[in-house]
Amino acid sequence: MIKCFDIFKDKSKSKCKSKWRAGKSAPELSNRSERGDDVKANHGAKSTGSMPSAQSKSITEMYREREQNLRVFSLLELKEATNNFNRLLKIGEGGFGSVYKGSIKSADGQSPPTSVAIKKLNTQGLQGHKQWIAEVQFLGVLDHPNLVKLLGYCSVDGERGIQRLLVYEYMQNKSLEDHIFNMAVPTIPWITRLNIMLGAAQGMAYLHEGLEVQVIYRDFKSSNVLLDKDFNPKLSDFGLAREGPTGDRTHVSTAPVGTRGYAAPEYVETGRLTVKSDIWSFGVVLYEILTGRRTLDRNLPSSEQKLLEWVKQFPADSKKFGMIMDPRLQNQYSINAARRIAKLADSCLNKNPKDRPAMSQVVEILTQTMEESQGTSSDSRSLPNKLFRRTEVASTSKQIPRMVQA
Ligand SMILES: Nc1ncnc2c1ncn2[C@@H]1O[C@H](COP(=O)(O)OP(=O)(O)OP(=O)(O)O)[C@@H](O)[C@H]1O
Ligand SMILES: [Mg+2]
Repeated sequence: MIKCFDIFKDKSKSKCKSKWRAGKSAPELSNRSERGDDVKANHGAKSTGSMPSAQSKSITEMYREREQNLRVFSLLELKEATNNFNRLLKIGEGGFGSVYKGSIKSADGQSPPTSVAIKKLNTQGLQGHKQWIAEVQFLGVLDHPNLVKLLGYCSVDGERGIQRLLVYEYMQNKSLEDHIFNMAVPTIPWITRLNIMLGAAQGMAYLHEGLEVQVIYRDFKSSNVLLDKDFNPKLSDFGLAREGPTGDRTHVSTAPVGTRGYAAPEYVETGRLTVKSDIWSFGVVLYEILTGRRTLDRNLPSSEQKLLEWVKQFPADSKKFGMIMDPRLQNQYSINAARRIAKLADSCLNKNPKDRPAMSQVVEILTQTMEESQGTSSDSRSLPNKLFRRTEVASTSKQIPRMVQA
């Protein structure tokens, strides 16, 4: 059973219909009741490794200061950019709307046009509006090479209805999901997969540990990892993001939202949200990248449908571990590195959230793995296969401590 927003999305992309909140056309959302949870201000002062305190600015306050960074588009400009939302320019569809490729004229009319992705929300509900605002506010403030750039937005409350659109930098290779599960496109080579894992981890570490406020992403999944022309990853979709707990609080309480198959079990059961929920989702995506299988796949035999259950039969230290690896890699990967990533994924998937690593630790392990793998192969989708070793990498550098799995 799928409900919208207050439980989980899945790939059926169900859509909720409820009334839009009339009125505001500028991205404003600041109070507790609108967010529908029990954390008041969520203000945080975050320096790496310490809990945010109650004094520093919230995302909303930071957004107000930086609002001018975002361009406000008219609906006409976006219609022109997409040939009136021509379906031939549609590049994707999510639970909250369709995504179109567009071409935007520069604001000064002097520079050449820019390719953009335009997301047009079709969710006729307060929740859709809230998520649109959250997206604008978070992406109006966040700035990291591994987060997608929001260039601007369009908000129209007209006689003919309410329109909410978002304009992003265009990501030439769409999403990780569009590649790792899609047999119709060339597979992503091993080193590129490692680079995607590392970049995604760096983006998430920035959210968790690199800002004044702690940001919990809440929707980490392969369709939200976008890939640029060089397959560098950028996280997208901040509609569900939340500021983390502040002061003495250990968690934020919310109605669980997210996507089925990616959300941490304790969050689904209790609604208690911490950054460790994101770490769980990261572990799920690591296994998706290793295996080329979706977290849930109803087309597989029943014993293989749930990825996390299936991989348990092939532990990272066992001889049969290699059997879970994506056959499309055609053995062109380092088995040592793959084992290391599987162990890392297992640690992210610890039942007890406290036993999961911090995102900075994940980055460290992935950096080491990447460096070692680069010592034996190079990153290029066109490099000859001989650069990818068939079995063990000769590396003998530090072993990752085996993290306990629940
Ligand atoms: N900036 C972008 N550049 C290029 N393609 C994009 C961009 N943003 C989204 N897309 C494409 O549009 C698809 C749909 O994205 P969207 O975020 O709307 O939904 P989703 O992530 O698949 O699902 P959900 O709504 O459940 O989060 C993506 O999978 C991707 O292929
Ligand atoms: Mg998405």
